[in-house]
Amino acid sequence: MINYKCYTVLMKHKIIIGNWKVNPITLAEARRLLRSIRRTAQDLKSTKVVICPPFVYIPSALSARKSEVIVGSQDVYFENQGSFTGEISPLMLKDLGVEYVIVGHSERRKMGETDEDVAKKVRLLLEDNIKPVVCVGEAEHDQAGLYLDTLKNQIKNSLAKVQKKYARNLIIAYEPIWAIGAKESMDPKIIHEMSLFIKKVLSDMFGHDEALSTPVLYGGSVNFRNAGDIISRGEVDGLLVGRESVNGPGFTELLKAVDSI
Ligand code: PGA
Repeated sequence: MINYKCYTVLMKHKIIIGNWKVNPITLAEARRLLRSIRRTAQDLKSTKVVICPPFVYIPSALSARKSEVIVGSQDVYFENQGSFTGEISPLMLKDLGVEYVIVGHSERRKMGETDEDVAKKVRLLLEDNIKPVVCVGEAEHDQAGLYLDTLKNQIKNSLAKVQKKYARNLIIAYEPIWAIGAKESMDPKIIHEMSLFIKKVLSDMFGHDEALSTPVLYGGSVNFRNAGDIISRGEVDGLLVGRESVNGPGFTELLKAVDSI
């Protein structure tokens, strides 16, 4: 039986990932937002901040000479080079200095991305030494508990091409689809249960040690008011934040709240 107790305290940093989606709509606004996040990030003691802006803002986001904010991407293609009009490859992102890439977000899955596509992206990112933030989550939290099978299958299929030696570079973002863009987040007590379930699936796939060292984040209607509670009672390793990550004052408060835990 896995002993997950004390696991979160062993982890040095909480990880807060801001998914800006298609916001803001000008580079000037993106720069302003990033400046305010950087100012806050430099005083954080135990919180790692990753910002995933739209592709076009990535070079600017990476241009700061000294910054505590890590830059990530919201998606990537599953080939490194070739005739794939309109796509952006892992090696291109790596060359810019991108360290994290969100894959399999439910908004991309809704546009047709499959577990198979996600698995190809995850494999390539790991081979290219970029950390994939793999989004998983059920559409419905049904009474019969079928969502557990859905989630398990999604994790297994999305990570099907991961070799055990790379498993420690994975990050899992648990985002129940019904909680994204909603009024309220999931109850932290249930978030805790779900994160343990995810750890168990990871343990069955890659082993106990790998499961323990893989951060599991929560995402879905996180804001500065509920973030602290989700981290402490939900016992997750971090948060994937949508709307609140483009609200400068709200995100600043969120970072401070999380860091104070
Ligand atoms: P939200 O989005 O925080 O606006 O609910 C989360 C996400 O889509 O990752």
